[in-house]
Amino acid sequence: EIKACLFDLDGVIVDTAVYHYRAWKRLANELGFDFTEEENEKLKGISRVRSLELILEWGGVVKSEEERSELATRKNDWYVEMVSSMDPEDILPGAAEFLRKVKAAGLKTALGSASKNSGLILEKTGLLSLFDAVLDGNSVTTSKPDPEIFLKGAEALGVRPENCVVFEDAVAGIEAAKAGGMKAVGIGSAEILNKADLVVRGLFEMSVEQLDNL
Ligand code: G6P
Ligand code: MG
Repeated sequence: EIKACLFDLDGVIVDTAVYHYRAWKRLANELGFDFTEEENEKLKGISRVRSLELILEWGGVVKSEEERSELATRKNDWYVEMVSSMDPEDILPGAAEFLRKVKAAGLKTALGSASKNSGLILEKTGLLSLFDAVLDGNSVTTSKPDPEIFLKGAEALGVRPENCVVFEDAVAGIEAAKAGGMKAVGIGSAEILNKADLVVRGLFEMSVEQLDNL
């Protein structure tokens, strides 16, 4: 029985996945290389620091810790600039509606995002009040696919993991949900998110009734 819904943010509630991609691509290009969209899939759900390490590896570029910190800041400045002009219209189709229906059905909701910019995005889009708990990149010490963020989310809601369903667009996020003993609904391609219990194109395809069949 599902008692709580845990949501990733980027690519599930808002379309910031494309902003992350643009900013990382710009950084890689400045360093003289590029990475593929397939490689970009591996960055979804992954922390800023870890994402940069992967990108530098793909480009065969070695940087000191100090340089890496400067590069991560540069990427984040571009990202924050794009995110700062967001408003409620940037909420993905059906996301706010589904969150409201979930709450109206008496279920709990939590955000479980690796992003340290979650607060800014929730504020810009006016979504904060739809979450009973918010766990983000500032709340955890490990990155997805470690289940830490979702387990902490379940704990904050007072719901057992087996009564939780996670909504995720990232392979690492689906893996985190399963590792935590939760149900997982993938947002995106069924081929890529093949470990999910169900895959939909967006939250506009979800109904509260469907949660019982997971
Ligand atoms: C999300 C995104 C990742 C991003 C991470 C950290 O999980 O899917 O692409 O790297 O958050 O985001 P931040 O805003 O803290 O750099
Ligand atoms: Mg995501």
